[in-house]
Amino acid sequence: MEFKLTATESGSRARAGIISTGHGQIETPIFMPVGTTGSVKGIHARDLKEDIGAQIILGNTYHLYLRPGVSVLEAAGGLHKFNSWDGPILTDSGGYQVFSLGDIRKITEDGARFQSHIDGSYHLFSPEKVVDIQRSIGADIIMAFDECTPGDADFDYARKSLELTQRWLDRCFAQFDKTEPKYGYPQTLFPIVQGNTYPELRKQAAIHVKTFDADGYAIGGLSVGEPEEVMYEMTEVVNAELPENKPRYLMGVGNPVNILESIDRGVDMLDCVMPTRNGRNGMLFTSEGIINIRNKKWANDHSPIDENGASFVDRYSKAYLRHLIISNEMLGAQIASQHNLAFYLWLVRTARQKITEGNFKSWKSNMVEQLKIRL
Ligand code: GUN
Repeated sequence: MEFKLTATESGSRARAGIISTGHGQIETPIFMPVGTTGSVKGIHARDLKEDIGAQIILGNTYHLYLRPGVSVLEAAGGLHKFNSWDGPILTDSGGYQVFSLGDIRKITEDGARFQSHIDGSYHLFSPEKVVDIQRSIGADIIMAFDECTPGDADFDYARKSLELTQRWLDRCFAQFDKTEPKYGYPQTLFPIVQGNTYPELRKQAAIHVKTFDADGYAIGGLSVGEPEEVMYEMTEVVNAELPENKPRYLMGVGNPVNILESIDRGVDMLDCVMPTRNGRNGMLFTSEGIINIRNKKWANDHSPIDENGASFVDRYSKAYLRHLIISNEMLGAQIASQHNLAFYLWLVRTARQKITEGNFKSWKSNMVEQLKIRL
C-alpha cells in the first residue's frame, strides 16, 4: 500500500493525500462508513459508492467471525465478493468490541476470552487468531489486536495495558509476516497507538509503533468518555511522533466538529457509527446545523431535508422524513442514514479541497461554528 501526500496547509497540521490499495485509491482526509457485520446498515453498495461517495468502508472481525463465520467468507472469496463492495475495506481487529462486552470477557497474556453476544458460546481471540481471521475476511487494511482502556483508567492500569498491547503487536506482525493474502491482492497491517489520556504513554506508544515501519498507523482508545479537549491533545501528542509520510487513522471519531478538529491536527482517516446510528434515531447533520427530525416543529415543514445536500435523498421533505421516522418505517432509517453519510463524505471532500487550495483553516473555523447550531 502506498501513501502520497499531495498538499499540506501552513498554520495547521492538515494534509491531503492519496492511498493506493488493491481495490483502488482513497483520497484523504477520508471518512469511512461503518459496516460492522459487512453491511453499512440500510445502504446498498451502489448508493454507498455513487450517491454517498464512500471510498472505503469498515468491517468488524468480532462480528464477522461470529456471523456468518470464516468458512462462509472464505467460500465467498472474501468480504468484497460476499457484500458486493468492490472498493477498499478496512477491518477492525475486534479488540474494541470484545472489550465492550464487559463481564463476559477476560483478558490474559494470551488474548481475550469472551462469550458470544449471540449464543453465549466461548471463544478466544489471540493476536495470531485475529490476524488469521482478517486474512480470511480479506480486508485491504487490517488492524492489530489491542486493548482499548476506558477513558478513566488510572496510570498504572493504562501503562500495563499499553505494554500488553505492545507485546500483542509483536505477535500480530509475526503472524502477518508468516501468512499470505488469500485472494490475490495485498493486505497491510496497521498498529494501534494506545496510552489512554497520559501524554508520556501516548508518546512512548507512538515511538514504539514506528519501529514496525507499517504502511499506516491508528490512534485508538479515544472518544471513550474523556473530555474532547483531552482527545485533541492526545491526537496532537501522537501525531507529533508519527511519520509524516504515512496515513494516520483516528478510530471511532466522531461528530462533524470532531472530524474537522482532527483533520486540523493531521488525521487522515476516521470512522464512526454516528451518522448511521444517530440517523436511525432521527438526528440529521447538515451544513446549516443539527436537526432532530422527531421534533414537532418539522411536522408540517415541506422544504427539502437539506437544501444544499448532495444526496438523492435530500429532496425528500422534512415533514415526510419525520412521518417515516415517527412511524418506525424502515425507509425513514434508510433516508436519514444515507443523508448523514453523504453529509460526512461531503465534509471531508470539502476539507480536502480547502487544504489543497490553502484555505482550510478559515473555512474550518466558520464551519465548526455552523455545525454546532441546533436548528
Ligand atoms: N475503535 C475505536 N477505538 C478503538 C480502539 O481503541 N481499538 C480498536 N481496535 N478499535 C477501536
